[in-house]
Amino acid sequence: MSSELRAPFVAGNWKMNKTRAEARGYAGDLLARLAALGRDDVEVAICAPFTTLDEMVSASRSSRLMIVAQNMHEADHGAFTGEVAAPMLTELGVDGVVLGHSERRQYFGETDRALALKVPAALAAGLLPILCVGETEDERAAGDTDRKLRQQVKEGLDKLESERLADVVIAYEPIWAIGTGQTAALEQAQEAIAFVRALIADRSRDAAARVRVLYGGSVKASNAAELLALPDVDGALVGGASLDAEEFAAIVAAAPR
Ligand code: 13P
Repeated sequence: MSSELRAPFVAGNWKMNKTRAEARGYAGDLLARLAALGRDDVEVAICAPFTTLDEMVSASRSSRLMIVAQNMHEADHGAFTGEVAAPMLTELGVDGVVLGHSERRQYFGETDRALALKVPAALAAGLLPILCVGETEDERAAGDTDRKLRQQVKEGLDKLESERLADVVIAYEPIWAIGTGQTAALEQAQEAIAFVRALIADRSRDAAARVRVLYGGSVKASNAAELLALPDVDGALVGGASLDAEEFAAIVAAAPR
């Protein structure tokens, strides 16, 4: 679907990497590189560990760089040891939150049912939710990709009113492509992301035209341009390659104008 309603969005997901000192150094480097690029047409975000969020927010204050957390609880407070709530993130000046990353689903028991509560809670708090979906290698081999995406998109957005669907960013990250160096083929990425958009269109055609859907999984500077040029791909969620500011800035530069 034509992308003129959708500004490109490139997010780096640091996962469990970088101390505060490392984050500070990276932020200075990245901000200088982004200023030199002059790509104000691209929305750029760093999804940082909780412990570095305040450093990143203050480092990016006079820039357009968005700072995003990597998880949150659906309740705004309570007896949930080890969890972080939306008001704690907004107090720091955080802009958004990654929800349902495959690593959280796989290792920490994140469920579609919890995500259905987390997505509206994030929006209600004024945070941009980045909802991650994607199939395993076995699911793709069994022809189950569409079924898995339908389940994750439908359930994750189940409690969100249609008027707010376009305020969510969805990241399609095939699990077999994460951290493996094996990027999805261009046709696979386009097809899956067009399917995600069609799922949104089932609820609202207007939202489908406006919702941003990103590709994630072994994106790097050398393959970003061809992925980002695909008609339904509105940006990238970048893991390993975002840990290096020069490489990440090169991915931002690869977004189509
Ligand atoms: P890699 O880019 O390291 O494959 O990670 C992708 C990812 O999981 C981003 O959220």
